[in-house]
Amino acid sequence: MNTHAPLSIYIHWPYCKSKCPYCDFFKTVKKDVNQKEIINGYIEELKFYHDLVPEHNIRSVFFGGGTPSLIEPQYIELLLNEIANLWSFENLPEISLEANPNSEYPDMFKQLRKAGINRLSLGVQALNDADLKFLGRTHNLNQALHSIDEVTKNFNNHSIDLIYARPSQTLTEWEKELQQATSFGLKHLSLYQLTIEEGTVFAKKGIKSLDDEQASKMYQYTVDYLRDNGYPRYEVSNFASKTYQSRHNKCYWLGDDYIGIGTSAHGRLKIGNKHYAFVHPHLQEELSDNERAEELLLMGLRLEEGINKQHFYNICGLELDNFINVEALQQLSQLGFIENTPTSLKATDQGFLVLDYIISKLCP
Ligand SMILES: C[S@@+](CC[C@H](N)C(=O)[O-])C[C@H]1O[C@@H](n2cnc3c(N)ncnc32)[C@H](O)[C@@H]1O
Ligand code: SF4
Repeated sequence: MNTHAPLSIYIHWPYCKSKCPYCDFFKTVKKDVNQKEIINGYIEELKFYHDLVPEHNIRSVFFGGGTPSLIEPQYIELLLNEIANLWSFENLPEISLEANPNSEYPDMFKQLRKAGINRLSLGVQALNDADLKFLGRTHNLNQALHSIDEVTKNFNNHSIDLIYARPSQTLTEWEKELQQATSFGLKHLSLYQLTIEEGTVFAKKGIKSLDDEQASKMYQYTVDYLRDNGYPRYEVSNFASKTYQSRHNKCYWLGDDYIGIGTSAHGRLKIGNKHYAFVHPHLQEELSDNERAEELLLMGLRLEEGINKQHFYNICGLELDNFINVEALQQLSQLGFIENTPTSLKATDQGFLVLDYIISKLCP
């Protein structure tokens, strides 16, 4: 039993008010869902996982979606109370929720804070009306600005999501938007390049993302600008000072234990010396040390700090230096894509531009 190991909990709410044409996250547009019944099911799931890892301490809880700001605050409070009844919390746990800017009711953010949320992540996506419309969002710029204001007033820890590298976006336009994004006093920014996902309305309409060269230029500008303006990159798409890095998302990239509650949520637990992958509802598959090591490599190189070799060994029981493809490592180091020290392995700035290539080469 890994006594007092940290545990993160992801709670997935699969409902949205409408479907955005670029999004392939699991979600349903359904009115009148029976929230009470669903939340009772979630409580049963929590109990199932508690039986497996009763001694863990909760480091973070993340309500993601879909649109979890549609959950009534009373049920958020109920779930958080249930978690507190089952496990102990670490000191200052991070309790996040993803919200969409068009509030359901006037004091939504205040009520979410009262229900126990202490970090709010707002899906703004664009800072001009034309692009919000293009992205099929149900909010306009005024509503986004109003919500950002509300969020910064009601929470001490906050973030917004923006999608850039939109088909007709120029670097100059993005520079302006980025400048505005850093002017709100937010603690964290998540900035994603638009991906055209198979099966989405954008894919069906034949909408193309920006070409690789232009998108790379925008990415490099983003990283440099934010580094100079108080938001250093700590993960491919995430920017914040050390204090405000998302502890929840870092658990995925570091390979720490987490459980997933709700349809399409998944989890990873180390029980004794064995690794398990879980998918809804409670399907459990044992992963070999090599399979887990591959996941750790894939996720860990997304972090600016890269992979700590001791942490890698503690989790999967393999030495990173023996696990990776040594020839590829030498080549990638010579090309300036990777920095390998006795204690860590990390991608360089140039390496971040070709991260998928690096990972595919390093995997044995
Ligand atoms: C789970 S999603 C949705 C959160 C929330 N429902 C919303 O719409 O704001 C998390 C984030 O992924 C990003 N995202 C989703 N689909 C994307 C795509 N095709 N390309 C780039 N970013 C995407 C968006 O920034 C979104 O806020
Ligand atoms: S982007 Fe958010 S609101 Fe839009 S469909 Fe996806 S999960 Fe729902």
